[in-house]
This record gives sequence, structure tokens and C-alpha cells, in this order.
Amino acid sequence: MAIESAVKRIGVLTSGGDAPGMNAAIRGVVRTCECLDIECIGIRHGYAGLISGDFISLNQSMVKGITVRGGTILCTARSKEFTTPEGLQKAADICRHMGIEGLVVIGGDGTFRGALALSQHDISVVGIPCTIDNDIGCTTYTIGFDTACNTAIDAVDRLNDTMQSHERCSVVEVMGRHAGHLALAVGIATGATIILVPEVEYDFDKDVIERIRTARLAGRNNFAVIVAEGAEPAYGVAEKIADATGIETRLTALGHIQRGGSPHVRDRIVGTSMGFKAVSLLASGKKSRIIAMRGDKFIDIDIVEALSLTKNFDFEMYKAFSALTFLDKQALLRTF
Ligand code: F6P
Repeated sequence: MAIESAVKRIGVLTSGGDAPGMNAAIRGVVRTCECLDIECIGIRHGYAGLISGDFISLNQSMVKGITVRGGTILCTARSKEFTTPEGLQKAADICRHMGIEGLVVIGGDGTFRGALALSQHDISVVGIPCTIDNDIGCTTYTIGFDTACNTAIDAVDRLNDTMQSHERCSVVEVMGRHAGHLALAVGIATGATIILVPEVEYDFDKDVIERIRTARLAGRNNFAVIVAEGAEPAYGVAEKIADATGIETRLTALGHIQRGGSPHVRDRIVGTSMGFKAVSLLASGKKSRIIAMRGDKFIDIDIVEALSLTKNFDFEMYKAFSALTFLDKQALLRTF
């Protein structure tokens, strides 16, 4: 990188659903700006705030101690106006008017689609993937996923205690929007009986009811079914299980609990690192990039390419989980 930064003033915003670790990313951005003598403007309420000029000047004292906090100090929103040609034009005009030479956007795929639209209006943008869903194609990891998994795991562990005492079946709905990554991780980590995800087709009678009956005949007397919200409504799953098996069944939708809380170590470190990397990309004159992880490495890729990629579901892991849960040797051997 040249000694002089290519940008003198940048903006940072968080958009879409919040995720633990967003604050670490903001702090990484602000402190890197401070180091490089770049002015940092915080844009509150995502793209809506960009359009309405909801700006706040950020410095290192304003981000002191925020790494430990869940949510986002900049607040977040999903803006309808920004998706219109007029709203987009207004946002780009405001960036130019305010002398914002680069924009760091922290969020999920909706946020990145907004960033792409802005880049087509000649605004330099860098995206930081941040969503508990871990559903962004270009990166193996999105900030917030680990903390959300741990929050959900803690809840399911507690539910398992009481299900075991009462010999009941617990149906737990976890978030993930259209993806089952969170459900798969939570199900495996808690030793669930069954995991239902949108990526894997299932026959309810065969793959849920029959399996619970078989497990009961083998001596099991409490069950946990993890349902990704994108698979099917969890209340229906609970009803069908209770009706077909006669087992007392309780439903818990974990909901927004999964989005809050103090970020775990991975989200603090990845958030901080990506915040640093975003500013260093803008400072070295790069534009239209998304930061991504491949294994433990941080890379950056063109935003158009990033948005063309879809995230693979870990079918191998899913199959191995099912085989191990039901001690199905043939199914397990097929995963080798
Ligand atoms: O994308 C993150 C996420 O938490 C999804 O898992 C969920 O479907 C959605 O956001 C919920 O959105 P809202 O906070 O608008 O209800």
C-alpha cells in the first residue's frame, strides 16, 4: 500500500438483521481509520440513514469497550426506499455531497446487493459479511454465526434437561431464514434426534415419526427435534409428532434471542480483523470488494462475483449426523 491513503473520509453502516460481532467490526473500522488519518463517519440505521443523512462522526473514544456488546451501536434497518431508483440515486448523491470516498457496509446478502447498486453509481464500497445465518456464498464464515450457535446450544441443553425429566419430545425452531446451517450446527452440538432443514428433502412419516418410534423401542424416552425456520412451521411439526406418537411434545421458538448477547471469541476476532481489512482495502484504492474467509484466511473478492456464489450446505455432515444418531452402519459407510 502507498504511504498515503487513497481515501480521506469514509462512511460505515450496518444493515439488515443485526448479529453479535457487528460492534467489533465497527471498532476495527474506526481504529484503522484513526491510525491512517482517515475521517470516519458512522451512518445510523443502515441505508435508510444514508438517505436521510443520519450521520455521526466516529472516533476511537466512541468505540471504546463496544467489542463486548451485542447488537450494533449504529442501529440497523431494512430500507424500502433504498431499493427504488430514486432512493439509490439519493444515497449516491449524499455520499458525493458529504465527500464520502469509500463506504464500509456490514451485513448480509441484502446489504451486499445494496452495495453493488451503489458501486454501479460509482461509489467505492467494501462489504463485511455479518449474519447469524452463515448463508453468504463467497465466505465460509459470517460474523455472528458462532455466537448464535452457542446461544441456541445453551437453550437446547436446558430444554434437554427438562425433556429428560418429563420424558417428552422437544421441538425447537431455530433461525436461518432460507438456510439450515444454524440448525445443523445446533442439532449436531446438542445430540438432537432429528434435524429438519430446507436443503434436505424428507418424508415426515418415514424420517421423523418412524425414527422417533424406532428410538423409543430402542429405549430412548426423550427426544429433540431441531427445525430450521425455513424447513416448515415448527408448531406443525410438534403437533404431528404428538398426534402420531402420543408423546407429550413441547414447542420452543428461540427467535431473536439467537441474535443478541455478547459476542463469542470468534466473532470478536473476525469482526475486528474484517473491520481492519475493509479500511485497508479502501485506503489502498480498492473498490467494490467483499471480504471473505476461506478456512482461517481473509481474502477479498469482487462484489459481482461474490453475489453470484451460493453457499453449499454440508450434506456430508448431515448424513453422518443421521447415521450416527441412529447407529446406522450402512448409512455411515456410504458417507466415507
Ligand atoms: O437474517 C438474520 C435473521 O435473523 C434470519 O435468521 C431471520 O429469518 C430474520 O433475520 C428475522 O428478521 P427480523 O429481525 O426482521 O424479524
